[in-house]
Amino acid sequence: MRIGVLTSGGDCAGLNAVIRAVVLRAVRGYGFEVYGIHEATEGLLRRPPAYTALTPRDVHGIYLQGGTILRTTNRGNPFAYPMPDGRVVDRSDEVIEGYRMLELDALIGIGGDGSFAILRRLAQKGGWNLVGIPKTIDNDLGHTESAIGFATAVQVATEALDRLHFTAASHNRVMVLEVMGRDAGHIALAAGLAGGADVILIPEIPYDMDVVCRTIEERRRAGNNFSLVVVAESVKTPSGEISTYRDAHGQIRYRGIGQVIADEIAFRTGAETRVTVLGHVQRGGSPVPLDRVLGAAFGVHAVDLVAQGKFDRMVAWQNRRVVDVPLEEAIRGYRSVDPDDPLVHTARGLGISFGDR
Ligand code: F6P
Repeated sequence: MRIGVLTSGGDCAGLNAVIRAVVLRAVRGYGFEVYGIHEATEGLLRRPPAYTALTPRDVHGIYLQGGTILRTTNRGNPFAYPMPDGRVVDRSDEVIEGYRMLELDALIGIGGDGSFAILRRLAQKGGWNLVGIPKTIDNDLGHTESAIGFATAVQVATEALDRLHFTAASHNRVMVLEVMGRDAGHIALAAGLAGGADVILIPEIPYDMDVVCRTIEERRRAGNNFSLVVVAESVKTPSGEISTYRDAHGQIRYRGIGQVIADEIAFRTGAETRVTVLGHVQRGGSPVPLDRVLGAAFGVHAVDLVAQGKFDRMVAWQNRRVVDVPLEEAIRGYRSVDPDDPLVHTARGLGISFGDR
């Protein structure tokens, strides 16, 4: 058997731990060959296809490295591929041909919902045997309690809050931390809870600026000279707009809500405010132990599925166990923060405000 493995979509910490587990299980456990495809489906578009045959020696010690040794991209959907001359063309047949040229028996795709939707379409069209491994710092994939990269992103955001805490206290300031998460508030919620935030703003819970400012003023009256506010990047402005900008490639990206909230707080309460936008720091660095453990569990289980001939499935983490679910359900089951989530109740129980009451 020859298995392909690729990383697709935005990178995150823990991808190399997954790649290592796939290689060790496939080679040592089953005697399979593993081809690491370069840069998601881009590698299958190249001629000859771009890949590295991976042996246990190639993945020695990589579990602690950030990024992905295979490289990745979150652009270049083969079904609507942007060409250098500005045309958008369907190159899916070329990608499918790349899989055939490498004589792969199965493909393990490490990605998020966007990547899985594309890989699944390719698998259906090209008759590929596909298994998915969930990764996304946003943790918004259905049917898995955690995806690779989320725990490390939360660690980084928590550490940022820990550091902001003391500089905020020294200067009597309100510190606003803008975190990633795309359309979901999981990072903001978990890091805000772990890092002692006073206010957490997430897209799933509409806020009122009066309530946010009242929380800060009440804290001041109670003798707390500083406050920490965590804002998820997709939270809307007080007037209901999404704070974005268009990059040089014409893509719309979230940015700026932290500054908007900080300015509103300063204007309404007179507090001195400062903003930190964490950005891609949340995706880099060495993975925390949980992402390494998940990486190992997911990689081993994915190869076991291949060995059992079980395809079109995604490995998942449920009730402290690695399981597998239909890939289609995982893609369809997008998971944002439930306003009734036990962690939201926990945060409220600590007196953390979501700006809504
Ligand atoms: O989906 C992961 C993520 O890091 C989001 O949290 C963020 O909005 C986006 O990717 C940033 O994408 P890019 O790497 O293209 O800037």
